[in-house]
Amino acid sequence: MDIFLAKHRGFCYGVKRAIDLAIKSLENAEPVYTLGPIIHNPQMVRHLKDKGIEVADTVEEIAKGTIIIRSHGVGPDIFAKAKEKQLTIVDATCPHVKKAQQAASRLTQNGYQVVVVGERNHPEVQSILEWTHNKALVIENSAEARNIAFFPRLGVVAQTTFSAGEFNTIIDILETKCDELNVERTICMATDQRQQAAIQLAGEIDVMVVVGGRNSANTSRLAEICESAGCKAYHVETAEELRPEWFHGVKKAGITAGASTPDWIIEEVNNQMTQFQNDSQFEQLEQQLQES
Ligand code: F3S
Repeated sequence: MDIFLAKHRGFCYGVKRAIDLAIKSLENAEPVYTLGPIIHNPQMVRHLKDKGIEVADTVEEIAKGTIIIRSHGVGPDIFAKAKEKQLTIVDATCPHVKKAQQAASRLTQNGYQVVVVGERNHPEVQSILEWTHNKALVIENSAEARNIAFFPRLGVVAQTTFSAGEFNTIIDILETKCDELNVERTICMATDQRQQAAIQLAGEIDVMVVVGGRNSANTSRLAEICESAGCKAYHVETAEELRPEWFHGVKKAGITAGASTPDWIIEEVNNQMTQFQNDSQFEQLEQQLQES
């Protein structure tokens, strides 16, 4: 069995930056907390806990020390509360998310009705909304876009991980819902690159292993995309979950991983799959020797 890795896989720039900033903040020799799990990967969250980085659900829980704002970002109230408590703030908001927050805030100040295109309950969308003092509307899909009222001036930003194709369809609809439309293109390419690379590899192999947290929406999406491309896909969080029978008779297998999956977990999966390959070659050799 040959094993192929998707060209784009694993940590995106924003997640890598957040983890690096979190680890660096340990140098200050004071308690360090992330506000919510830093990424949707339980293994990485545990790894950081072992190093001394705890997860707090609210600012109120933190008495003193460093608070790390994760890549999804937060609203201005959280920054104000953390300052009031004299916490050291490490802002690991992904620069792409920051750009969306700033665009939404600027458009609101300039008198536009802001529309955020994305998943209503996603923490990133919530953070963008807060920078408009919750005046923005959220649109999740074309049907919702068709249902909004007419506004003289609409300003649009997107959740950074939203599908670019679907966003363009929604923009076409919103053009009919206002006199003036101001669109800020805030979609980041990392998700799209991982999806395109997975589709390409899925067309060339028999089985795909998709590595990442079960709570990671972008990892689950990668598995769905591979299945839609006609390739059997298995979503695993760690190498221990791999089963040798998944690879019986398989000539080519692929590995891809969501944007919150660390390299060391991808490496462990690759090593385990190589081990299965060696074991099956050994079994075949043993069988041939018995038959001769
Ligand atoms: Fe940032 Fe894009 Fe990753 S928005 S957190 S680089 S998926």
